[in-house]
Amino acid sequence: MISSAAIARVATREAERFRAANPRAFSHHAAAIGWFQSVPFHWMKDWPSPVPIVAASAKNATLTSIDGQTYDDFCLGDTASLFGHSPPALTAALAKQASEGLSYMLPTERGAALSARLAAMFGLPIWQVTTTASEANRAVIRWCRGISGRAKILTFNGAYHGAVDDAFVDLKNGQPVMRASLVGQVHDLRATTTIIEFNDEAALADALRGGDIACVLAEPVMTYVGMVRDAPGFLQSLRRLCDETGTLLVFDETHTISSGYGGHGVTHGPKPDLMVVGKSIGGGVPCAVYGFTAEVAARMAALNQSRPAGHSGIGTTLSANALAITAMDAMLSNVITPAAYDHMLGGAARLVAGLEQEIATAGLDWHVTQVGARVEFLTCPTPPRNGGEAKAAMQPDVEAAIHLFLANRGILLAPFHNMMLVSPVTGDDQIDRLVSGFADCTKALKE
Ligand SMILES: Cc1ncc(COP(=O)(O)O)c(C=O)c1O
Repeated sequence: MISSAAIARVATREAERFRAANPRAFSHHAAAIGWFQSVPFHWMKDWPSPVPIVAASAKNATLTSIDGQTYDDFCLGDTASLFGHSPPALTAALAKQASEGLSYMLPTERGAALSARLAAMFGLPIWQVTTTASEANRAVIRWCRGISGRAKILTFNGAYHGAVDDAFVDLKNGQPVMRASLVGQVHDLRATTTIIEFNDEAALADALRGGDIACVLAEPVMTYVGMVRDAPGFLQSLRRLCDETGTLLVFDETHTISSGYGGHGVTHGPKPDLMVVGKSIGGGVPCAVYGFTAEVAARMAALNQSRPAGHSGIGTTLSANALAITAMDAMLSNVITPAAYDHMLGGAARLVAGLEQEIATAGLDWHVTQVGARVEFLTCPTPPRNGGEAKAAMQPDVEAAIHLFLANRGILLAPFHNMMLVSPVTGDDQIDRLVSGFADCTKALKE
């Protein structure tokens, strides 16, 4: 319904507009020759603008660039700042901790309080801290293999669990393949990773009945290929099949923490054996956690007792440093609250209603999906049932044109797909600006 000529016309016009409005960003990147590809981390090149916006500061749900542009921020650091940029309770706690030491390799009293908060919020009794969600997923996979004595894991086609090599296997024409974009991986990951489509209960039963899978690593709703919701009953079948086959069930709730207070497992069920939460839990300070049942903890303790002393391959020097513990404790006690979720879910509902209205007005066969505070528009008529369908439905050119159009009107979406996050400090005025920018964009694409 939208021609490729129209997409190219909008993309070209918007690139020119960006160029005119952001001269300092261009000078910055021209001078940044000490960074590989002019950025300190190569993903920062993945924005649809001709050069990345250069951030100056951010507060609440507003970001300001060195060119003096202000943005309604619906990217929120790709979830790291889901609860708003620099909440006062976090910045005060960090400032205090900064003068009391940042990394001791020793537990602190604050840490004990934090583990109790994690247990209360997420419903699992025992916890460990890592520096990123990727690292938490890697740790969890290693523990599951260790305690089960099984080598394989199972993940779902199109899932993303961070920089976790084991999860970089895709399904292509029904066959497992190494993810083509992966750099420098020399092992054949297919030997130890089973990959099936999400919501495919028959394939899941087949795979698990072999009895050789240590854990299923899953997001309860897929969030990195657009968003793919669980079909009714699928997660309950997943739980049952794991129990029947002695397979551990891991929920990676790094993104689905948007579902509601406690994440998807708590708000919708079922309960996993282990879970991972990262990014937003520290309000943007690098840290993540994984939690598990008492039974899993007992098996981990038994494994620890039976192995020789020495490197476990789990954790790094900076894991659970004082700054990370302080950040999470401040977030959980003051910022990540049921009241915050009430605001986020209300805002997300407003956004969904606005976008659906504009899609209908424009006569587009697109749809909108919501996972709590996380909203996504997909440029296809019906919700995909799995990662394969979702990947096939993606239209990167249209998406890039829309993102750039919106950025030029002071609205920031996550660069990777059409993900929009509503924080506890996102205003209705910001949501309404996003909806009206989206409406203007669909008009421009149909001209
Ligand atoms: C579901 C999920 N798990 C884990 C991660 C990894 O997070 P990080 O990059 O902070 O390690 C991501 C990153 O986007 C993610 O989407």
